[in-house]
Amino acid sequence: MSDTQAMQARLVGEISAAADLDALEALRVASLGKAGSVTSLLKTLGRMTPDERQAQGPQIHALREAVTAAIGARKDALEGAALEAKLGAERLDMTLPAEAAPQGSVHPVSQVMDELAEIFADMGFAVATGPEIEDDWRNFTALNIPETHPARAMHDTFYFPEVGEGAAQRMLLRTHTSPVQIRTMMEKAPPIRIIAPGRVYRSDSDATHTPMFHQVEGLVIDRGIHMGHLKWTLETFLKAYFERDDIVLRLRPSYFPFTEPSAEVDVGYRQEKGRRIVGGHGDDEGHAWMELLGSGMVNARVIANCGLDPNEWQGFAFGVGVDRLAMLKYGMDDLRAFFDGDLRWLAHYGFSALSVPTLSGGISA
Ligand code: DAH
Repeated sequence: MSDTQAMQARLVGEISAAADLDALEALRVASLGKAGSVTSLLKTLGRMTPDERQAQGPQIHALREAVTAAIGARKDALEGAALEAKLGAERLDMTLPAEAAPQGSVHPVSQVMDELAEIFADMGFAVATGPEIEDDWRNFTALNIPETHPARAMHDTFYFPEVGEGAAQRMLLRTHTSPVQIRTMMEKAPPIRIIAPGRVYRSDSDATHTPMFHQVEGLVIDRGIHMGHLKWTLETFLKAYFERDDIVLRLRPSYFPFTEPSAEVDVGYRQEKGRRIVGGHGDDEGHAWMELLGSGMVNARVIANCGLDPNEWQGFAFGVGVDRLAMLKYGMDDLRAFFDGDLRWLAHYGFSALSVPTLSGGISA
């Protein structure tokens, strides 16, 4: 056996016996490192005569390959053993309780909007939407609220700065969902049955007013529609929403520019442990009336403004605050808490994302 072959046998032996990865690394540096024994031997090749090189070259290269292969093999073996040891030491206790995953909840406003969509879908209403940045014409003028009308002042409107001199259409944050009536009548041919839930904005803020709040608009346009249809629709809606049959409504003459005649709708309720319980006749002992929503027969001018013939098409409309509906049904008393984003409030008043409201399953089940 040549010296080179003896060296190969010794090194391979040492490498295979390396106790751990550190020992193996030390052996690698000592053999293949810059000043290692194998590297030094390789360097001698340059100084040899061609005959010597022919005799020793193959042995020296074989030595380097054998050492490299032995190091690789030992490394794999040691790492495999380390992994086995780690897996052997770790224990998964299947009896431990799982960590609770934080679960979100559906905000009462979203829940109530879903309930309304479900109730009205059952009566053949589709859900319509419109932009929150609206133009002056759809928010006011088309709804028969001209420039000089006092109702404009009542709305505390957030206007956008006018773009350019005498801009034709001033933009604003819609003050009610009623412009969706205009959009729907201009885009769809009657008959129309829609509700339009969404955000609205007014420059107003105290315990019962927030600058942003939610409304739902209702609109029916068809032939031969009269106030009886309006009253039946509202009664059916409120009975389904409050999940009780003893809902009694009172229609009071009122004024809205976009309806004629207009009616404010009151609902009978009684006070119980500081909470308002909707139901019963407002004139009965212990009961009272509460104003709930605005409604009326769509003004012929509004129908004409949308390009429809008021002699052929009539309809009714109504508008109601979603936040107020939610507070009445689920017993919250401060409107501002709706928009604080307090997780404790949401955990208490929120709804499970998996229980979707249905009429058959109980609307708020
Ligand atoms: N848009 C009215 C408001 O925000 C509410 C309203 C009243 C809507 C009567 C209607 C309606 O559609 O017929 O105060």
